[in-house]
Amino acid sequence: MSNQMWGGRFLSGPDAIMEDINASIEFDKALWRQDIAGSRAHVAMLAKQGIVEAADATAIAKGLDSVEAEIESGSFTFSRALEDIHMNVESRLAEIVGPAAGRLHTARSRNDQVATDMRLWVRDTLDALDLQMADLQSALAEKALEFAGAVMPGFTHLQSAQPVTFGHHLMAYVEMLGRDRGRVKDARKRMNENPLGAAALAGTSFPINRHMTAELLGFDRPTANSLDSVSDRDFALEALSAASICAMHLSRFAEEIVIWTTPQFGLVALSDKFTTGSSIMPQKRNPDAAELVRAKSGRIIGSLTALLIVMKGLPLTYAKDMQEDKEGTFDALHSLSLCLAAMSGMVRDMTPDTKAMKKAAGSGYATATDLADWLVRTLKMPFRNAHHVTGRIVGLASEKKIGLEKLTLEEMQSVEPKITVDVFAVLGVDKSVKSRTSFGGTAPANVRREAKRWIAKLAREKRSC
Ligand code: ARG
Repeated sequence: MSNQMWGGRFLSGPDAIMEDINASIEFDKALWRQDIAGSRAHVAMLAKQGIVEAADATAIAKGLDSVEAEIESGSFTFSRALEDIHMNVESRLAEIVGPAAGRLHTARSRNDQVATDMRLWVRDTLDALDLQMADLQSALAEKALEFAGAVMPGFTHLQSAQPVTFGHHLMAYVEMLGRDRGRVKDARKRMNENPLGAAALAGTSFPINRHMTAELLGFDRPTANSLDSVSDRDFALEALSAASICAMHLSRFAEEIVIWTTPQFGLVALSDKFTTGSSIMPQKRNPDAAELVRAKSGRIIGSLTALLIVMKGLPLTYAKDMQEDKEGTFDALHSLSLCLAAMSGMVRDMTPDTKAMKKAAGSGYATATDLADWLVRTLKMPFRNAHHVTGRIVGLASEKKIGLEKLTLEEMQSVEPKITVDVFAVLGVDKSVKSRTSFGGTAPANVRREAKRWIAKLAREKRSC
């Protein structure tokens, strides 16, 4: 049987393989709410403009309610022969409403319909992701406030560099998430235009009102060019690139959790809630959730790459290639949502071993820079010389296999005679972090202030939405 939507010129139905490659219903049924919302707005506008009679519009609107109820309750039968969500909904509508249903598709095409549905889905999903990112920020800032003064090693090249505080480290991710949210909001603002009414590609001769459908669907305005409206997927690409950057941030943090929780580092512990055991090694506690967050960044970033490649060779306007935008976009944004939830859970669940952190912070001569700074400040030595002197003192301590603060004054003076007993005041890790009061530095007072500032900001945001 030829297709009931466009079968006029077709004598037979598609080959089975054609149906296999062509049907998108298995994944685009996720757009059912958006599809029905778009149709509701469209038919209301058609009626208002006198393009469809009020009685038909009412029948269609009621029919859409029934379709919605059927899908919601699970009684709706999706059909592969009907290809996609648009034709599935419309075909059922025709069964419920009768011939009047056919008027719904006046002055629109599946091309502007799918562009509208996808924008609505991506927009609403970005809004939900933004809330999840805010929740992760809250979890981090609260933990940071609690451990604003907990000294841990700060790393460069994953080598102990200088002591920092655990709170400061967590707040770094609050900043990253702040920018991630900025990207999401920015993408949302740019994509919030209504493609509906661009029709197949050229607009329509019917006297439609695209401003009205824009308003009904929560768009800021209609898109300005009909060709662009049906052929653009950069809104999805922007969402995916914002998601990819956020996923990359989460993956770095996940990697740190994996490192910190190894017994060799032993800086942080996760509870039973976010770890798994081993079937043969009873001592093990595996950070699977963190590992999966790290790994899922692969599919999120992969979706961005895949869609960029799908789009890059397409002449304007619509091509069926664009149907391939969906699975990757749905999967990537769902995956990011899962990663954010898992990360918030892990942050709330994690307990730093503050003793182990402090011990590790002092190892590897992490206060060497403090010694060099002391030489500059107190002995007025040029920094380059101070660096050299410090290097020799570190060499001495390392030969003796002891920490810098364990050297005697005489031993230090054997390298630089002008050193006085005051130097010991800067060699402890606590003193080191306390002294880092420069704007953005790791001093516990700074960290506390920043954590409080974010907690207040996030609470304000929450109240206003
Ligand atoms: N399922 C299609 C998609 O996702 C809908 C648009 C189809 N348009 C067309 N002219 N065949 O892209």
